[in-house]
Amino acid sequence: MSRVIENRQEVWNQIKSKTDRMLEGIGNKSPHVAGANGIYDDMRLDWWTSGFWPGILWIIYDMTGDERYKNAAWDWDERLSKRFLEDHYFDHDVGFQFLPTAVIKNKLTGDADAARRALFAANYLTGRFNLKGSFIRAWNGDKYGWSIIDTMMNLSLLFWASEESGDPRFAHIARAHADMVMKQFIREDGSVHHIIRFDPVSGERAEAMGGQGAAPDSAWSRGAAWALYGLTNMYRYTGDSAYLGTAERVANFFIASLPDNHVPPWDFRAEQEGEEGIPRDSSAGAIAASGLLELADVLHEAEGGRLYGIAARRILSSLHEHYGTWNDSKHEGILIEGTGHKPAGQNVNVSLIYGDYFYVEAVAKLNGWQRRIF
Ligand code: GLY
Ligand code: GLY
Repeated sequence: MSRVIENRQEVWNQIKSKTDRMLEGIGNKSPHVAGANGIYDDMRLDWWTSGFWPGILWIIYDMTGDERYKNAAWDWDERLSKRFLEDHYFDHDVGFQFLPTAVIKNKLTGDADAARRALFAANYLTGRFNLKGSFIRAWNGDKYGWSIIDTMMNLSLLFWASEESGDPRFAHIARAHADMVMKQFIREDGSVHHIIRFDPVSGERAEAMGGQGAAPDSAWSRGAAWALYGLTNMYRYTGDSAYLGTAERVANFFIASLPDNHVPPWDFRAEQEGEEGIPRDSSAGAIAASGLLELADVLHEAEGGRLYGIAARRILSSLHEHYGTWNDSKHEGILIEGTGHKPAGQNVNVSLIYGDYFYVEAVAKLNGWQRRIF
C-alpha cells in the first residue's frame, strides 16, 4: 500500500506547513519557475500561470477556513483583470487564470465583482473561437490557425459562464472545441498531439506540430495529462459518454507508458539522452493524478474507476517520496524535476507552480475536498 494513502492527512499537513513558508517567501510575486536555488521568479500577470499560486491559497482556505489564506488570495482576480485594460498577452489560457482566482473566489465568498471579472474572461475566450475550423485559437500574433491540447483545461470557464449567466452559448463553444479535439488531437492508441494547425480561412487541417513535445508524432506527457483531465471534465459537465470513452483511452495510454517509479518522462517517446536518462516532468504526473482521481470519481465503483484511483495514488506517492521539497525549508516550490519546454531548452529540471498547484489539488481531493476549480 502506498505511503500517501496511509498518511494522506500527514501529507496534507506537510503541504500546509510548506504553504505557510511559501506565503512568506512569495508574497505578491506571480510565481512560475523556481530553479536550483529554490526561489520562485515573478512573471507578468498576463502569463498563463498567474492563477496557480492564488489557487493553492483558495483550496487551503476552503479546507481550513483559515482567513490568512483568503486574505492572501483575495485581490488576485482584480490584479489580473486590470491587465485587460493595458497592452496584454492574454490568450486561450484565461481559464487557467480566472478559474483559480475569480471563479473560486465568487463560489467561496459570493463576491459579485469576482463573477463579473470571470464573465469578462469567459467572453474573451469565446471570442477566440474559429467557426470554420471549430477550434478555440491558441496564443496571439499571427498564429490564427493554431490550436493546442492545453485549451481543454480552460473549457471549465465556459461551463461556469453558462451556468452563471443562463446563456448556453458558452457551453456550445466548449463542446464544439472538445468535439474537434477528439477528432484531431487524440490518436487511436490514446496518445495526444500538442498542436494542430488549421487553415484559418477554410478551417481545413493543415498539419500536426510537435510544440512542447519531441516531434509531431511523439507523446508530450503534459499534453496527455491536460487531455485526460479535460475530457473527464467534459463528461462531468455534459454526461456525453463519447468524452468519457476518449478520456479513458488517453488515461490507459498514460498509465501504460509510465516508468517503474510512476512519474512520467517529459515526452513518452523522447530519445534517451546520455547517462542522465530522460528528464522527468513531475508537473505532468501531478496533473494526471488529479485528473485520474476525477475519472475514478465519475466511474464510481466500476472496475476501471478503481484502477484509475490506484494509478493516481501511485503517482502521488512517488511524487511525495522522491520529488518533494519537504526537508528543504528554504525551497519555495513543492515539487522538483518539472519540465516546462524541453525543445526550447527552457525550464528543465525545475519547480513549476502548476505542478505544485495540481499536487495540492490532488492531495486535497484525497482528503475529502469536494469543491472543484476545473
Ligand atoms: N499550457 C502550457 C504548458 O503546459 O506548458
Ligand atoms: N508554455 C511555455 C512554458 O510554460 O514554458
